[in-house]
Amino acid sequence: MNEEIMVVAKNLKRIFEFGETEVHALGGVDLSIKKGEFAIILGPSGAGKTTLLNMIGGIDRPTEGDVIVDSDVITEYSLDQLNSYRRNDVGWIFQFFNIVASLRAWENVGLALEFQGGFSKKQIKERSFELLEQVGLGGKEDRFPSQLSGGEQQRVAIARALIKKPKIIVADEPTGNLDFVTGQSIAELMLNLNRQENTTFIVVSHDLNITQYADRVFHLRMGKIEHIEEQPQNSVPKKVQEE
Ligand SMILES: Nc1ncnc2c1ncn2[C@@H]1O[C@H](COP(=O)(O)OP(=O)(O)OP(=O)(O)O)[C@@H](O)[C@H]1O
Ligand SMILES: [Mg+2]
Repeated sequence: MNEEIMVVAKNLKRIFEFGETEVHALGGVDLSIKKGEFAIILGPSGAGKTTLLNMIGGIDRPTEGDVIVDSDVITEYSLDQLNSYRRNDVGWIFQFFNIVASLRAWENVGLALEFQGGFSKKQIKERSFELLEQVGLGGKEDRFPSQLSGGEQQRVAIARALIKKPKIIVADEPTGNLDFVTGQSIAELMLNLNRQENTTFIVVSHDLNITQYADRVFHLRMGKIEHIEEQPQNSVPKKVQEE
């Protein structure tokens, strides 16, 4: 197994059944994503992007095929192994942020470490503050989500995904609920973190504007990879005007 490869999908199929109907959400997806890569999965609504991400993130199991992450066949994991994989190895970022309204920014970030266990309250607070600083929220650690803008809430979610040092970060439409400029700054932040931490990012989107940030763009259509676009050696694009 090539040690440079982080994620492999092999002939991945997912069929949803209801009543007489079968929906072939994934019709045999093959892909491999390198360690430290910033990959974007692009495709129209209904293409199977979320379904694919859920397979990679261990939220759902395929009807057929395998997902291999860091040389482990996660599709053969027991429920316990899958739980541990989700808790320790995967950081999730969602379109609607999914942070807890009743917890302060740093407590939201710290939650990921609390779930992992083995950290003191003091360690959790210190690490959470560090991560919030890293995503540009220094000084806002004690705020509740309602006291933060959408872009800032997404930064909290990014810090929460990153704090556990996951093998992969999976993001489902992370800029989908943000205006153009804020979305650009979130994409830019993710690319910066990807470059600094060498964490593998797999980002699902139907937003063409963020493909400029990817090392490779996997075009998904009707449950299949149509083609893969290699981007020239990517560097962090020029800073866009802050909101
Ligand atoms: N639980 C489910 N039961 C039945 N069909 C489903 C289920 N989840 C997804 N599908 C179907 O599978 C196909 C792929 O859905 P998926 O959510 O992966 O698309 P997507 O590319 O993420 O779309 P969007 O950009 O709108 O989020 C769609 O036809 C969808 O209706
Ligand atoms: Mg989706």
